[in-house]
Amino acid sequence: MTGWPKRVPGLCWGADYNPEQWPEQVWAQDLALMREAGVNLVSVGIFSWALLEVEEGRYEFGWLDRVLDLLHEGGIRVDLATATASPPPWLTHRYPEVLPVREDGVRFSHGSRQEYCPNSPVYREKSVALAEKLALRYAEHPALAAWHVNNEYGCHVRRCYCQRCAEAFREWLKARYSKDLAALNEAWGTAFWSQHYSDWALVQPPRVTPTYGNPGQLLDFDRFGSDTLLELFVAERDVLRAITPDVPVTTNFMAGWTFGALDYWSWAREVDFVSNDHYTRAEDEQRHVELALSADLVRGLAGGKPWLLMEHSTSAVNWQPRNRAKQPGELARNSLSHVARGADGTLFFQWRASRAGAERYHSAMLPHAGSDTRVFREVCELGAAYRRCAELVGSTVDAQAALVFDFQAGWAAEQPAHPTQDFRYHEAVLGVYRALWQAGITVDVVPPSADLGRYPLVVVPALYLVSDENARSFDQYVAAGGHLLMTWFSGITDEHARVRLGGYPGAFADLLGVRVEEFYPLGAGERVRLSNGATADTWTELLHPEGAEAVASHVDGPLPGVPAITRNEHGSGLAWYVATTLDPDSMLGLVREVAERAGARPVVRAPAGVEVVRRTGEGPRGPISWLVVVNHTGAEVVLPVRGIELAAGSDVPGCLAVPAGGTAVVREV
Ligand code: GAL
Repeated sequence: MTGWPKRVPGLCWGADYNPEQWPEQVWAQDLALMREAGVNLVSVGIFSWALLEVEEGRYEFGWLDRVLDLLHEGGIRVDLATATASPPPWLTHRYPEVLPVREDGVRFSHGSRQEYCPNSPVYREKSVALAEKLALRYAEHPALAAWHVNNEYGCHVRRCYCQRCAEAFREWLKARYSKDLAALNEAWGTAFWSQHYSDWALVQPPRVTPTYGNPGQLLDFDRFGSDTLLELFVAERDVLRAITPDVPVTTNFMAGWTFGALDYWSWAREVDFVSNDHYTRAEDEQRHVELALSADLVRGLAGGKPWLLMEHSTSAVNWQPRNRAKQPGELARNSLSHVARGADGTLFFQWRASRAGAERYHSAMLPHAGSDTRVFREVCELGAAYRRCAELVGSTVDAQAALVFDFQAGWAAEQPAHPTQDFRYHEAVLGVYRALWQAGITVDVVPPSADLGRYPLVVVPALYLVSDENARSFDQYVAAGGHLLMTWFSGITDEHARVRLGGYPGAFADLLGVRVEEFYPLGAGERVRLSNGATADTWTELLHPEGAEAVASHVDGPLPGVPAITRNEHGSGLAWYVATTLDPDSMLGLVREVAERAGARPVVRAPAGVEVVRRTGEGPRGPISWLVVVNHTGAEVVLPVRGIELAAGSDVPGCLAVPAGGTAVVREV
């Protein structure tokens, strides 16, 4: 792996830069203002295909040459896009089969972006050709720091259901089931509803059907959908690597609440460094907590190594129901939360707010109102702070626990015709994560196959689907003395989404010391009370302890007297199970207790709403550590910290005051 874009000095700081949207006389002003803001990296050309290949095979690189030269003169590095994210009108007009098809058979029209089918040979050929042209032309350009392939794969077109994709799906299935059709029939349970396949040619993508589709087919189509887009990335990456082996290649993921259609655990293996786009949900008062989950997940995808926040917003976006501007200081809090959790730089979408096009109401580093604005002032301030925090680059994050996250389990758990329609994987994960965040415990987000041995505590929210092998490793972890906290809808199926028999939670029944007979999901708005004073919603289940001890039982609701929280001694460890959705305070109480017993403690005890994360690295004179503090509250907080605050360059003699809504980065001494 080529690794990090080392040509960028310090923490990366900048934005998507789309100069083609503006007359050239604006570019000089852009440069002057970028320098004022301390920008050192911009992503260029993401949506430029139509202006780079103006007709089939006729390329016009002159404008891009000038942009790159100008940026270089200004000392700004470039994350150069392959420009393949939005095919030009000539392409879809001449080759309409490039356009992807929805599950109801409707073919998309041109006029937006991402209008390509992942299995279109024409799209593949033309996109790889463009990437090659760009690589050949700019291989030696001194501004080139990294390659940005395509953009947010799958964001708008998660799956394509066209005939070509059907053929590719069949080939993918043949490989998965070793050309054994009987194995596919067995895995998908096709004896049900007369779905038995007697020929590979009969297998189709899960298009619109009279009622529920086959769960195995749906799940495999999700896996195929992720893999088939990944092939597109790999095709472009390989041509770039062949021409510029020293320039790292990335593509921007969307790990967070908005998107879950790709299995980023497998994608992460293919990029030279991980980059992510994250946008907060304006109406969520706890949006910084979801942001932290996303950042921890991205660090997990990066294998603990530094990663790049490729996009977020300085202020409002344009695609939520109501797009409110951010609060003063929120831009810095958001940025530093990502840095706290391992990002070695944060960029925005985008540099200059567009005057035309679908995203003209999206914020930018330079707003419509110009540079005499709060946003631009905050941008300049944070840019200056980043310069003073450059020593963080390359350091890693200290975590006290692991949280298991699995995209495929999420796909399977959210399928239709399940016990409740109220289950959302991301919400289930966030429910536990929020409590960990509030308890000040930093987690490494890991896949179900991870080696868990070094964590005192492992949290497993709703791991609905799990292989025997992965299930065994949780068992071994606890037996060897680990502490594990699991929540409902775990262990229910094997990797084909077939229910495990003998009582839920199937794969984990022995580990948890419980057996569940039936599910009793709660109605909309229905709440139940537990014997420990907690309240809960969404879910209850008829659970019998089989070795486990009841920590709290239902007081009312459909299952009075039935345990809802249990604890099981397993080998020399402890396995906790939460068989309902606890209210946030009760979940926090439980997580505190579980963490205390496991010996997982926050790096600094901070008041509620204050985020403190430690990064560690090697300095010239030995190990070195930093605390990144983000105060999300409306009051000043004082923390027992000693060191040097880098942004202000001030001494922290033993207590650190962080103003309401403020941030601090302290090198500890
Ligand atoms: C991202 C995308 C950008 C821009 C941004 C707006 O999903 O990569 O191009 O559309 O959202 O929030």
